[in-house]
This record gives sequence, C-alpha cells and structure tokens, in this order.
Amino acid sequence: MRIGILGSGLMGAKLGTIFARAGHEVVFSYARSERKLKRLAREAGARASAGSPAEAARDADALLLAVHWSRVRDVLRQAGDLSGRVVVTCSMPMNAKDTDLVVAHTSSGAEELAKRVPGARVVAAFNTVPSEVLFGVFASRRKRAKPSLVYYSDDAKAKRVAIELIQDVGFEPVDAGPLRMGRYVEPFVLLIARLAYETKRGPELAYRFERLKIGKR
Ligand SMILES: NC(=O)c1ccc[n+]([C@@H]2O[C@H](COP(=O)([O-])OP(=O)(O)OC[C@H]3O[C@@H](n4cnc5c(N)ncnc54)[C@H](OP(=O)(O)O)[C@@H]3O)[C@@H](O)[C@H]2O)c1
Repeated sequence: MRIGILGSGLMGAKLGTIFARAGHEVVFSYARSERKLKRLAREAGARASAGSPAEAARDADALLLAVHWSRVRDVLRQAGDLSGRVVVTCSMPMNAKDTDLVVAHTSSGAEELAKRVPGARVVAAFNTVPSEVLFGVFASRRKRAKPSLVYYSDDAKAKRVAIELIQDVGFEPVDAGPLRMGRYVEPFVLLIARLAYETKRGPELAYRFERLKIGKR
C-alpha cells in the first residue's frame, strides 16, 4: 500500500518506519522540521520519502493520522480533500496538557474526526498502545502469542486496511465494532497510559485478550 503519515512524531515516525520495513510505500509528513522528515525517510529505507500533508494524501491507500488533538484541524486542512481515503487514526481527543479527554461519554475522538472528514473512511487503531512498545512488537512479530490491538470503524474497507497494518506491525487485530466504541476504548487508553508512564515497570506495555476454556469442576 501507499501510506501517508500525517504527523511524524512518536507514533507517526515509528509506525511509518515499521510500515516501510514491512514493504509499504510511506510518505512522512507534518513535523516542524523538514530535515526531520527527510531523516526519517532516509532511515526507513528506499520505500520511504518525505513530503507535505497534501503529497502524503495524494493517491494514498491509507493515511495515518498521528497528531495531537489540537493539530487535527490544521493537518486536515493541509492534507486537502480526503474523500474516499482510508484514515487510520491513533489520535486521542486529549486536552493541551494531555491529562484528560476533551470528548467522552456521548461521543468519542473517532466519531468527531469522522464528522470532520465526512467523505473519508475512518478507522481507529494503534491508539491503545504506547509508542515505546511498537518496535519491540515488530521485532517479535513471528512469535505465536501476539499482543492484541483493538480497532473500530463503521467502514468495512477501512477495517480491512487496519487489519493488514495491525498484522504487519505484529499485533493480533481485535474488531471492537463501530466507531462509537471509541466511547469505551478511549478511556481505556488513559488506563494504558497510566500503567505505561506512571508506574516503575516502564512504557513497553501491550495487552492481550484471551478466551479461557475453563472446564467444569
Ligand atoms: N505517544 C504515544 O505513545 C501515543 C499512544 C497512543 C496514542 N497517541 C496519540 O497519537 C497522537 C500523536 O501522538 P505522538 O505522541 O506521536 O505526538 P507527537 O510526538 O507530539 O507528534 C506529533 C507530530 O505533529 C507535529 N506537529 C506538532 N505541531 C506542529 C505544527 N505546528 N506544524 C507541523 N507539525 C506539527 C510534530 O512535529 P515535531 O516532530 O517537529 O515535534 C510531530 O511530528 C496524539 O493524538 C496522541 O494522543 C500517542
């Protein structure tokens, strides 16, 4: 696939690099320094390049939206018309200090994003894990017991794209249902963030759902 990265920070830089190493064509965009985008592209290999958000969006099979909530409007404006495009968002609706959700209970970041890009096929994925775990999961992607990763969307094609990308990184995709499940998933991300960043065990944290076959006693 040709994948445009909108926001090349902690999440976008790592996921873009992994997508390129997994064989996709990747365009890194939207950082404050052009040099950084070019360096990321160089380090990610021959399939990666640096560009503007509009260039990242052009002919993209998928776009990864990985910016702070306060930058979503700006990056979307720069990306241009996203009608028909699959937009994979890991962006969380956080306040300026990243301490709390600014959308919750009656809506979610995923639903609000879908309203802002009505023609696009929005799917949420990768928002439930810290960036620090991504390279480790990719490195152990051939292991049998993979960590889970939930995704949710109202669009079947967007879900298919998300499944492919999630598997490329090395997670087991878990279909959490429609976009409105963001109302439950996004608060869970705050739990993940607490476990990752506010305990001594470190941020290389993933999760795994298991269905246990418990026999009759
Ligand atoms: N980090 C995580 O572990 C994690 C986990 C789950 C979900 N999320 C969510 O994923 C999203 C991205 O998080 P992140 O940690 O990757 O954020 P980040 O590291 O701050 O990256 C954001 C990107 O946006 C760019 N940017 C910011 N202001 C800009 C401006 N005025 N002009 C151009 N570019 C600008 C940054 O540029 P620079 O590169 O120059 O800084 C950076 O490349 C957020 O919504 C976050 O809540 C993050």
